[in-house]
Amino acid sequence: MKGGLKVPRISLILIGFVCATVITLAYVKSPFLSSWAPSQDRVFQISPDYKVKDEEVLRERNRLGKSEESVNFEPTISNSSTKGSSTKDKVTEELTNTEIEGSAGIPPSFAQKGYLKGALEEKSSSREQENEVAGPVNSADSPIKNLTSASKDHGCNFAKGRWVTDDSRPLYSGFGCKQWLSSMWACRLTQRMDFEYEKLRWRPRDCEMEEFTGANFLKRMENKTLAFIGDSLGRQQFQSLMCMITGGEDRPDVLDVGREYGLVKARGAKRPDGWAYRFPSTQTTILYYWSASLCNLTPINASNPATDYAMHLDRPPAFLSRFLPRFDVLVLNTGHHWNRGKLNANRWVMHVGGVPNTNRKIADIAGAKNFTIHSIINWVNSELPKYPGLKVFYRSISPRHFFNGDWNTGGTCDNTTPLAGGKEVLQDESSDSTAARAVKGTAVKLLDITAVSELRDEGHISRYSIKATPGMQDCLHWCLPGVPDTWNEILFAQL
Ligand SMILES: *[C@@H]1O[C@H](CO)[C@@H](O)[C@H](O)[C@H]1NC(C)=O
Ligand SMILES: *[C@@H]1O[C@H](CO)[C@@H](O)[C@H](O)[C@H]1NC(C)=O
Ligand SMILES: *[C@@H]1O[C@H](CO)[C@@H](O)[C@H](O)[C@H]1NC(C)=O
Ligand SMILES: *[C@@H]1O[C@H](CO)[C@@H](O)[C@H](O)[C@H]1NC(C)=O
Ligand SMILES: *[C@@H]1O[C@H](CO)[C@@H](O)[C@H](O)[C@H]1NC(C)=O
Repeated sequence: MKGGLKVPRISLILIGFVCATVITLAYVKSPFLSSWAPSQDRVFQISPDYKVKDEEVLRERNRLGKSEESVNFEPTISNSSTKGSSTKDKVTEELTNTEIEGSAGIPPSFAQKGYLKGALEEKSSSREQENEVAGPVNSADSPIKNLTSASKDHGCNFAKGRWVTDDSRPLYSGFGCKQWLSSMWACRLTQRMDFEYEKLRWRPRDCEMEEFTGANFLKRMENKTLAFIGDSLGRQQFQSLMCMITGGEDRPDVLDVGREYGLVKARGAKRPDGWAYRFPSTQTTILYYWSASLCNLTPINASNPATDYAMHLDRPPAFLSRFLPRFDVLVLNTGHHWNRGKLNANRWVMHVGGVPNTNRKIADIAGAKNFTIHSIINWVNSELPKYPGLKVFYRSISPRHFFNGDWNTGGTCDNTTPLAGGKEVLQDESSDSTAARAVKGTAVKLLDITAVSELRDEGHISRYSIKATPGMQDCLHWCLPGVPDTWNEILFAQL
């Protein structure tokens, strides 16, 4: 389906208007953005203690009102023989709280700020050239001329293109999908009244993107397993995919197969480390496993309940190495937990080669994160020859949009006008240069959603939540239905 309802004349007027706006915006915004985005150095000087305390207060505050996760998923008896999981559960549970309860307590990502600064500056400068591209989307001035073959061999860049309005969206109702969609991310259930953000569709410039349907997805994934492993943004993508496949309808036939993957709620835990569901008609399994750092965590002193955890930057999460043989599609992500405050709060101690890290180059957060992303991608790439059918994607970072402050200093994202800052991505390279460099030369594909999502500052939870915490906004997670649906469309197009 093509969303183009506009007659050419209106398009031209629109294009002219957009160009003028964009040029003005770019001019006005550039100096603002540079002063807003703190320099990396400054960011790392913020006292972690101060942050952690705030986060804990929030966590405590939220704990009272947040039972929906345990309501959705029946508790199951823990099987503590799952290797390494009984000790890890405790820490994971804590992390999960920190992150997921962040419907108000948004994990700060200071490591990312510096990176975003660059990305934003790059974007505003590329906006100035926007008039040159306002032509037809499938114009032939790209290096890839053969659209048919491009979409088939996936050689095209899905991240380059523009947002268009499409009244056939969203693909499921935010009032529905109660089986999988966390109520904290269902903005339809909040006080939010503007829903224009649900009506947008991503149209890549150089490739056809096949229309997503649940039936087509299941057919292509017959007898196959798709695994998302990552942080809460990965969990959003998982929930989004479940809703997209089912159209948000109740599906009592879909089986909870978490037990097959050891994804059961440990005694005393609030929720399992992940979830796995199977569509019996096609024997398609979709699962999500919570690993915020994408590295293996092991207790340093297993008999001490208050132990520190070795965070093995060069080792994959145990869950991943254990279950990789069962996966046909794997989508990895990390990013928003890489800051000193979170590492300290979780008592994660960086290890390399099984011993505490002494390499100064990877001792800082940005270095450790880069090292870990390279490690996990190289590891999984080295496993690929054993699993010829396996497709692995590394999903680039999901952008945050805190304006005029950060998550804990009154930062906001309450713009409700979609695409106020532009609707097109023109650059060829990813805005997530760390991820792009890491996949280079490997068979791991980049699921590049950074620049695409960067244009969608109006699509976050913002100040709306079931239990609004005054003064806090969630400009990290996205409303569902919403932007992560597009990530899944881009993923589907490459399966
Ligand atoms: C726990 O898991 C192990 C290995 O997967 C299995 O051998 C054992 O029977 C399970 N125990 C229970 C109580 O489910
Ligand atoms: C485009 O791709 C099709 C299918 O792969 C091929 O048959 C055709 O020759 C290609 N055309 C050009 C101009 O490369
Ligand atoms: C899926 O598995 C079933 C049962 O083993 C088999 O009959 C069917 O052909 C498989 N489908 C595909 C597409 O592999
Ligand atoms: C491990 O923790 C236990 C309990 O706190 C403590 O008794 C023991 O000395 C610790 N072992 C080491 C090697 O630190
Ligand atoms: C990221 O890590 C890789 C692999 O360890 C290294 O080659 C590269 O120089 C690092 N990049 C930065 C910017 O630190």
